[in-house]
Amino acid sequence: MKRVAILISGGGSNMLRLIESMTGDHPARPVLVASNDPSAAGLAHAAALDVPTAAVDHRDFPRDRAGFESALLEPLLAAQPDIICLAGFMRILTDGFVRRFQGRMLNIHPSLLPKYPGLDTHARAIAAGDAEAGATVHLVTPELDAGPILGQTRVPILPGDTPETLAARVLVQEHRLYPAVLRHFAKGQGEAVLL
Ligand code: GAR
Repeated sequence: MKRVAILISGGGSNMLRLIESMTGDHPARPVLVASNDPSAAGLAHAAALDVPTAAVDHRDFPRDRAGFESALLEPLLAAQPDIICLAGFMRILTDGFVRRFQGRMLNIHPSLLPKYPGLDTHARAIAAGDAEAGATVHLVTPELDAGPILGQTRVPILPGDTPETLAARVLVQEHRLYPAVLRHFAKGQGEAVLL
């Protein structure tokens, strides 16, 4: 059975879908949900599902990303994860941290990568006049949002869409995509998931 740790910063709706998916014949189980924000709503939701939680407040480490990461590594390494899922984790990780888990750290990003790495993806897709938006699950590499793509889901951009309406449409699909990709990945199956 593969051990999965999930890193979040906020509500954690993707994290909850991942946890809910890891039952029955699923090849993985959740062993930790950790956040850089002790007030992240997702922590309480994970605890309610009996998943161990940890919080390391990045604001306790001003201008000290490495210090924050070594504090985060304590509960993370103690949980002995085989796979780490970033699910709405909004801190940029150092190369050293990424390399330590390279090949077994996944991220979900709300755009059709390689389009729109970084922030404000939905506003940028609307401003560009794109017909489609979506989300991508990829392996994390030191370059931001640029690792090998494991799965992608597409939605139409509709007339009158705002970043908020588009984000809501994409999020529904994220909730299908991330569990599907994790199941594949935990089974060691390589081909990309397209929803
Ligand atoms: C999701 O839309 C996810 O794709 C995005 O944050 C949201 C988190 O929602 N991630 C990023 O923007 C990463 N750069 P959630 O907390 O409800 O899962």
